[in-house]
Amino acid sequence: MPKILIIPGSLRAASSARATARAIEARFVDKADFDVADIGALPHYNADVLNDPAVARFVEQVGAADGVLFVTPEYNYSIPGVLKNAIDWASRPAYASVFKDKPCFIVTVSGGVTGGVRAQAHLKYVLNGMLARTHPCKEVLVTQANDKLTEGVLTDEAVLGFIDTEFTPFIESLA
Ligand SMILES: Cc1cc2nc3c(=O)[nH]c(=O)nc-3n(C[C@H](O)[C@H](O)[C@H](O)COP(=O)(O)O)c2cc1C
Repeated sequence: MPKILIIPGSLRAASSARATARAIEARFVDKADFDVADIGALPHYNADVLNDPAVARFVEQVGAADGVLFVTPEYNYSIPGVLKNAIDWASRPAYASVFKDKPCFIVTVSGGVTGGVRAQAHLKYVLNGMLARTHPCKEVLVTQANDKLTEGVLTDEAVLGFIDTEFTPFIESLA
C-alpha cells in the first residue's frame, strides 16, 4: 500500500480541516498507510537552526511518503503561516528537496462559501516552486465546513463522495 503523509494546515484540536483529514483517512484506510505530520512541533524557520529533532522527523516523513495529502484552511486569502513554515523547512536544498517530484494532493476547507480556493491556488504555486507534482484533478474544496461536520466528523455525503472520486485516482497513481 502506498504511504501517504497528511499535512494539516490547522493546529486547532477542533479543526474542520483535521476533521476532513480524519474522514479521508477513515475512508481510504484499506488502500493506503497514513501518517500525520505534527507541524505545530516545528520551530520558526531559521537556517541557523541545525539538527532540530522535529524538523528532522518532518523531513524524514515527507521523504518516506509516496504521496502527501494537504488538508488546510485558508487564512487571509492564502495558506496559513504555520503550513508555509513547515513547507519551508522541507524545501531545502532548493529544487532538490524531499518535495522534488513528490506527488501531492490538496484539499482546502473553509467556514465560508469559497472553500479556501485562494489557498488552493497559492499552495499549488508554492509546490510548483519546489518541483513537487500536484495531482491534476478537480479542485477539492470543503465549503461551509461547520455545516458539514457532526460532532467533529465530516458527514456530508456529497462532499465525501466527491472526495472519493478525486482522491481514488491519486492513490492508484502511487501504487
Ligand atoms: C486568521 C484567520 C484567517 C481566516 N481567513 C480566511 C479566509 O481568507 N478565507 C476563508 O474562507 N476563511 C478564512 N478564515 C475562516 C476559516 O475558514 C475557518 O476559521 C476555518 O474553520 C479554519 O479552519 P480549521 O477549522 O481547520 O481551523 C480565517 C480564519 C482565521 C482564524
